[in-house]
Amino acid sequence: MIRRLDSTAELTEDDLVAAYAPSDRSIPAVRANMVSSLDGAVEVLGISKALGDTDDKQMLGRLRMLADAVLVGAGTVRAENYNPLRVGPERQAWRRTQGLPDHPVLAIVSSRLELDPSHRSLAEATVRPIVITHAAAPADRRTALTTVADVVIAGEREVDPAVALAELNARGFAQVLCEGGPALLGAIIAADLLDELCLSLSPLLIGGVSGRIVAGVAAGMHRMSPVHVLQGDGGMLFTRYRREKVAGL
Ligand SMILES: NC(=O)c1ccc[n+]([C@@H]2O[C@H](COP(=O)([O-])OP(=O)(O)OC[C@H]3O[C@@H](n4cnc5c(N)ncnc54)[C@H](OP(=O)(O)O)[C@@H]3O)[C@@H](O)[C@H]2O)c1
Repeated sequence: MIRRLDSTAELTEDDLVAAYAPSDRSIPAVRANMVSSLDGAVEVLGISKALGDTDDKQMLGRLRMLADAVLVGAGTVRAENYNPLRVGPERQAWRRTQGLPDHPVLAIVSSRLELDPSHRSLAEATVRPIVITHAAAPADRRTALTTVADVVIAGEREVDPAVALAELNARGFAQVLCEGGPALLGAIIAADLLDELCLSLSPLLIGGVSGRIVAGVAAGMHRMSPVHVLQGDGGMLFTRYRREKVAGL
């Protein structure tokens, strides 16, 4: 059950969809969805699963339902052993009512292309995934991956996030949900391409040396405006922030 912080009334699925639906699907937008502990840990023992709960899992499914493409770094696909991207039957039905295909497409960003074409996220995909890489990526791996995915070149020697997103938009994927990880999200923020952050705060203190939701080179300060904070039964807080464009920041 999810409610507003100042209310005991449960939000319905329709309420929650309305709280996250893009106002205009034709305007390209990049939304990130991440989960962190109260002290900022982004993983426990190398994966994020222990940070989430049932409400968070539902939130992930809801945000995927609202997306045209789910963008993820290869590090996360490998660490989390990603499943093929599929939304459940009720969410497929909702997508049909909106004139959307049954499932969003999975787009994986990789420089080295250390992705096994037989990995379930690729080989068992319902919608042919996209692998976004650069022109200098190993040619043999590129060829191998084309058996299971569309390989898109976005940059000469590294993946340029702006080109990657333009390539997705050119294919009709305007609403992009970035599921991390921290390196990919850092590159997107550094290029000032993040429009929205949905951060689930897990009611846990973890300690240790886990990284934050954003990694990589210092990206400057990007001010975000809060849109809402919702609370789940298990104590998760579901925050939604929008990019505030402020000159000089
Ligand atoms: N808490 C959360 O919400 C959450 C979400 C996602 C992940 N995670 C955690 O984050 C960890 C993985 O972190 P990560 O930073 O390695 O994951 P990542 O950002 O998913 O993957 C990094 C990889 O993305 C590829 N890449 C290609 N071009 C890039 C570019 N321009 N900028 C950045 N990356 C580019 C590279 O793949 P190649 O190496 O193939 O070249 C790079 O090694 C795991 O522990 C995972 O559980 C947590």
